[in-house]
Amino acid sequence: MLSKPEFEAIVALANLAPSIHNAQPARWRLVGDRIEIGADRSIILPQADPTGRHIGLSCGAALEATVLALSKHGVGGTVTDLWDDDDWHSWSGHRMVARIELAKNATTDPTFLQLDQRFTWRGAFSDEPLGLYGWSRPDTAMVMDAPMRRWVADLNDAASLGILRRKAFRRELLSWMRLTPSDARYRYDGLSRDALRMDSRIARKVRLGFGVLWPLLNALGKTSAMTAEADLTRTAPLIACFHRPKDESAVQTGRAYLRLCLEATQLGLAGWPMAALTDDDTARDMISQQLAIGPERALIQVLRFGVPTGAAPPRARRPLAELIG
Ligand SMILES: Cc1cc2nc3c(=O)[nH]c(=O)nc-3n(C[C@H](O)[C@H](O)[C@H](O)COP(=O)(O)O)c2cc1C
Repeated sequence: MLSKPEFEAIVALANLAPSIHNAQPARWRLVGDRIEIGADRSIILPQADPTGRHIGLSCGAALEATVLALSKHGVGGTVTDLWDDDDWHSWSGHRMVARIELAKNATTDPTFLQLDQRFTWRGAFSDEPLGLYGWSRPDTAMVMDAPMRRWVADLNDAASLGILRRKAFRRELLSWMRLTPSDARYRYDGLSRDALRMDSRIARKVRLGFGVLWPLLNALGKTSAMTAEADLTRTAPLIACFHRPKDESAVQTGRAYLRLCLEATQLGLAGWPMAALTDDDTARDMISQQLAIGPERALIQVLRFGVPTGAAPPRARRPLAELIG
């Protein structure tokens, strides 16, 4: 039903979905009239993602992007979420994420138009009034009042610093940072200096500061200034607190997560997640309590949203040869 060039175009578009550390763990294969998506076993983030939930969420976002990319070609499909089967055997070197049984003549979902418009923005947001046009989602608490946004900004800095104090976490993060364009993987994956909005001087400081100089900077009380984002966070007019049913599969959660991001894109907004706020148990509980998110729900991600004050950074994405199995 899909030609090889069509399949490749769909994979390339689907892989624009957001992923933890831009690791891009999703892989695709076409088996007759079925697309299978797996998570590459070699992508592991023991520090940032000890339970594999962020990888699952990233693969779920890639799955939803695949469904949208298929709809661009008039192809639909029945999706089976395989994440909770924990199946590492059906596809060597992969954990099964999902299967899509393809069907012809589907209606096009115009949301696919946002796939290549969405990007993570790690700079200041514009102070122009937000046009949300009644945007709301039952799985997202939209925080707009200034005192609460300030509280979240400070909590994010405290949670991030707590996590960054762990040497193993910093080492893993550095391994995904592409701090110089001469890095062989600069265009392909990880967090590029452009995406992180660092010039070469700051990038050098981060390499040293997160590396050998951390103990010294810590002793001098300088690590909080080095890692703080609150000034930028405060410029975001909207903080979105995304929560989902507690026992939902990470892949299902990822599908909804991509929809949230694309809806924001459609409104001209860019997002910047604060994973520390959900990775840190205390911060997550404090926000859940503040927003009355009940015990049957899990706070998944807290994101800054606003109109970016600059252009999208160049994208780093894996070549197709690394994505198709
Ligand atoms: C589960 C998840 C957690 C993320 N956490 C963070 C984060 O804490 N901070 C951040 O700056 N970006 C975060 N991101 C954004 C990714 O780094 C980003 O999607 C990736 O680098 C690809 O870039 P793009 O979104 O511009 O396409 C996260 C993305 C996902 C899917």
